[in-house]
Amino acid sequence: MNFENRFQSRRAVVTGGAAGLGLGIAARIVAEGGTAEIWDIDPDALAEAAAPGMTPRQIDVTDADAVADAMAAADPDILVCSAGITGPNTTTWDYPIDDWLKVQNLNLNAIFFCCRAAAPIMKAKGWGRIVNIASIAGKDGNPNASAYSASKAAVIGLTKSLGKELAETGVTANAIAPAAVKTAIFDQMTEEHINFMLSKIPMGRFGTVEEIAAMACFLASDEASFTTGFCFDQSGGRAVY
Ligand SMILES: NC(=O)c1ccc[n+]([C@@H]2O[C@H](COP(=O)([O-])OP(=O)(O)OC[C@H]3O[C@@H](n4cnc5c(N)ncnc54)[C@H](O)[C@@H]3O)[C@@H](O)[C@H]2O)c1
Repeated sequence: MNFENRFQSRRAVVTGGAAGLGLGIAARIVAEGGTAEIWDIDPDALAEAAAPGMTPRQIDVTDADAVADAMAAADPDILVCSAGITGPNTTTWDYPIDDWLKVQNLNLNAIFFCCRAAAPIMKAKGWGRIVNIASIAGKDGNPNASAYSASKAAVIGLTKSLGKELAETGVTANAIAPAAVKTAIFDQMTEEHINFMLSKIPMGRFGTVEEIAAMACFLASDEASFTTGFCFDQSGGRAVY
């Protein structure tokens, strides 16, 4: 389905936009009349993803100063925070501290940096849409993924706070909690962990990039005007709240 011109004259910033969910979301925004800056740390993926309407920017979103400068230059109406990593699959007691900190820094702190930089820009316009990609792991807590689960739970909390802070400004902030979707992120997980995630999905299949993009684009659109500070489920029936 294509909502022609749904994003006409809208400028988006999509972090992690060179691959996976971020790229799918950016592509749909552009296909429906908007423009997107895709921010990513991977120059090769950026070069491959560049397309009309999609401007690649090599940015490490864990660099708060770089994020603030790039956000001011981008002047976005829409921010989608999709950059994320899983970290290793191991028990909490075996979890390497460096890896724990790396996961929190990208999956949580960088989203804070992006939201912190984008919110005043959107507030000044009286319109804005922030969509943060969390995970079902943040609601359920996946075993052998404590850093990831904790970071995603924190993103849900951050988004709920931000949504309420912005509630009277015309800017909304929502999160999405997908179950597993087959992207390059699977390369970071053990086969056992991937099978565990699939076994937990009542629909018995992985989600698709297109399904996540459909929800993200609804939340980024004018239509989603009475919804903020909420986390939307895309888990094939896994979520119970
Ligand atoms: N795919 C899934 O199963 C799934 C499920 C639930 C939630 N999510 C979440 O969705 C988001 C996107 O996941 P994906 O499947 O598209 O992963 P992906 O690995 O395909 O894409 C992530 C992108 O983020 C980029 N990135 C990594 N570090 C960065 C940094 N420091 N600065 C800028 N960009 C950086 C990577 O280069 C990559 O292009 C992540 O936050 C992930 O946790 C994914």
